[in-house]
Amino acid sequence: MIIIHNTSQVIPLTANPQRGSALGTLNAIEHGAVAIEDGKIIEVGAAAVLLERYPQAEKLDAQGGAVLPGFVDPHTHLVWAGNRAAEFEMRLQGKTYMEIMAAGGGIASTVSETRRVSLDELIAQSHQRALAAFGHGSTTIEAKTGYGLDLDTEFKQLEAIFEMNRLGPYELVPTYMGAHAIPTEFKGDTAGFVDFLVETALPEVKNWWLVKAEGQALPFVDVFCEQGVFDIDQTRRILCEARELGFALKLHADEFVNLGGAALAAELGATSADHLVKTSLDDIRAMADSETVAVSLPGTPFSLAQSEYTPAKQIIAADGYLALATDLNPGTTWNESMQMIQALACRYMKLTPAQALSAATINSAKAVSREAQIGSLTSGKQADLLILSTPDYRDLSYRYGANLVRTVIKRGQVW
Ligand code: NIG
Ligand code: FE
Repeated sequence: MIIIHNTSQVIPLTANPQRGSALGTLNAIEHGAVAIEDGKIIEVGAAAVLLERYPQAEKLDAQGGAVLPGFVDPHTHLVWAGNRAAEFEMRLQGKTYMEIMAAGGGIASTVSETRRVSLDELIAQSHQRALAAFGHGSTTIEAKTGYGLDLDTEFKQLEAIFEMNRLGPYELVPTYMGAHAIPTEFKGDTAGFVDFLVETALPEVKNWWLVKAEGQALPFVDVFCEQGVFDIDQTRRILCEARELGFALKLHADEFVNLGGAALAAELGATSADHLVKTSLDDIRAMADSETVAVSLPGTPFSLAQSEYTPAKQIIAADGYLALATDLNPGTTWNESMQMIQALACRYMKLTPAQALSAATINSAKAVSREAQIGSLTSGKQADLLILSTPDYRDLSYRYGANLVRTVIKRGQVW
C-alpha cells in the first residue's frame, strides 16, 4: 500500500458525474491523504487518520502540493503523421479553415501523410504526443481514427491505438471516425462514400476489432456533421447503422454551422456531442434532457482565433452534463494540455476553476463511458491521480502555459 501525504489539499470530486449546477463539486479535504493498493484507490481522508490506520504503508510525500484525479481528455485526433504549420500561416493571412479544406488542404493533407507512413512511424509520432499529454496530467485519452478514410489506413490507425495502449503509461480509448472527411477517391460522391461506410466499413471495423481486441469494448463511432462534410441525414444514417452494430456513438456537431447535430446526438442516445459552438438553445435543452454529455473544446476557437465558444453557461443552466477536451489535432488545435483547456474555459466560457476541473475529470470520464472506473478519487476506482507543484488547484486555471503537474500516478504506478 502507498499513502500520499503532506498534501495541501486532496480534491476527490464525486463518484458520479455532475449535472448542471452540481458542476464544480470538489469535496476538498485540506491536508488530506490518499491510500492506494493494487492499482486502486482504497481510501481518501484526513492524513492523520489514514497514517494511523495503515502504519505499515509506504509513504509518498506530496511536498505540500494539491492532489486530484488524472485528467480525462475525451476528444483527440491523436494518431496522425505530419505537420500543418503552413496552413496556420495561411489562416493568419486571412484564409478560413473551411476554405483551406475545400481547396484540398486541411484534413486531406494529413490523410496523405498518414497513408504514406509505416505503422511504426505513425506510432512513433503519436506516442510523443501521448507522452506529452500524460506529462501534463491526462491519464486517459480518447483517440480517433479518421486520417485514413480508406480501410487499410483506418486499420493502421486502430492498430496504432492498440499498440500504444500496450506502450502506455497513458490509456487510450479508441474511436473509429471513418466519417471524418470525404476522401479524394470519392470526391463529388459523398453519397457513395456514405454507402461504403455503412455497407462495408462499419461491419469490417467491427469484425476486425472482435478478432484483434477480443473482450474489449468496441470503439466509439464518430461523424463530422458539418456543412460541406456530412449533412444531417447522412450523419443519421451512419450513426444508426453503427448503433445497430453495437457501437456507442459520438458526434462532431455545430463546430462552424448548426445542422442540428446536437439534438440528433441526444435523440440517438449518443455518449457525447462535441464542439457545440453554434448550438441553439433548443438543442441544448434536448441534450440536457438526455444522458448525452456536451463536450466543449475551447482550444479550437482559440487556436483558430475565433471569438465564439461553447455556450457553457446555458448548458449548465439547462441542467446538462458539460465536459472539456483538447481536440488535439494537426489542423485546428495542436495542444496536448488539459491544463491549458481549463484556463481557456474559465476565460472564454466563464467557468469557475472548480467547474473546469469537474468538466476535465469526472464529467469527461462520462464522455468516454468510463465514469465507473476513473474521473474521481473514490474508493474502488482506478488509482489515476496527479500531484501538483502548487498547493491550490485553482492555479490550474489561473496560471497557464506552464506545466503544474509534478507527479502522475497511473493505476497506482508513480511516474
Ligand atoms: O475536431 N472538425 C473536424 N476535425 C478536427 C480537425 C481535424 C483536422 O483539421 O485535421 C476538429 O477540429
Ligand atoms: Fe475533433
